[in-house]
Amino acid sequence: MLEIFSKWKANLTSADVPDQAEEGELPQHIAIIMDGNGRWAKKKGLPRIAGHREGMKVVTKIVRTASNIGIEVLTLYAFSTENWKRPKKEVDYLLGLPERYLSAELPKLIENNVQVRLIGTTENLPDHTLRAVEKAIKDTKHNTGMILNFALNYGSRFEMLEAMKSVGRKIESGELKADFITEEHIQTHLMTSKLKDPDLLIRTSGEIRLSNFMLWQLAYSEFWFTDVLWPDFKEQDFMEAIAVYQKRKRRYGGV
Ligand code: FPP
Repeated sequence: MLEIFSKWKANLTSADVPDQAEEGELPQHIAIIMDGNGRWAKKKGLPRIAGHREGMKVVTKIVRTASNIGIEVLTLYAFSTENWKRPKKEVDYLLGLPERYLSAELPKLIENNVQVRLIGTTENLPDHTLRAVEKAIKDTKHNTGMILNFALNYGSRFEMLEAMKSVGRKIESGELKADFITEEHIQTHLMTSKLKDPDLLIRTSGEIRLSNFMLWQLAYSEFWFTDVLWPDFKEQDFMEAIAVYQKRKRRYGGV
């Protein structure tokens, strides 16, 4: 599978990625803020949901590519706890996308040994959305390939607040002393407790912010931003992000 990546890289011409530079390791966990669906639709004089529909097609392509080249975890920010503020019609459409996607793609995900996971709160999610995602999680739970982690109804501050409450309850019950709280205690109470932190964060559409996404987990991640709107995001853009990541030196606060 890695051969696909090497072949693609051999043709790379972007000025950001010097041809002669040494090849680094593949990021194990990539997280993506898929932004720009609305602007894409507006530019084409279409309703916003047309942008989300196109965005779903890009999800299909990028998931297949990520799994093919050997990415271990792909986390996609599909719906945030703040997205409830959008018009009901758009919210309903967005929350229908996991079901649409999975009804078309689940057989392929199974064939490709992908494991589906979910982070976020299930509270207020429509039953049909939850049922579709839970079925996908169940049907792929014995798979051993890439973890496809949907962040759905996810907000990082909510996640951290819930983790702090859980730790607080342990202190109340006498199981833990406040002075002995470690980063690991917090980590194990996050929704991503069983996942390695992202190595690479990609955000499309030219916005340079985190929008309440994985604030704890992205502490040492490499960030890659592009002006490309998510519905226009191509396999080549994804590969370029990885290639740029491979040129970065990660020091984790050291020298
Ligand atoms: C942000 O763009 C995007 C979202 C809130 C939704 C992202 C969802 C998808 C790409 C499809 C998800 C697919 C599956 C299978 C779950 P925006 O609408 O805020 O764009 P704008 O900033 O241009 O208005």
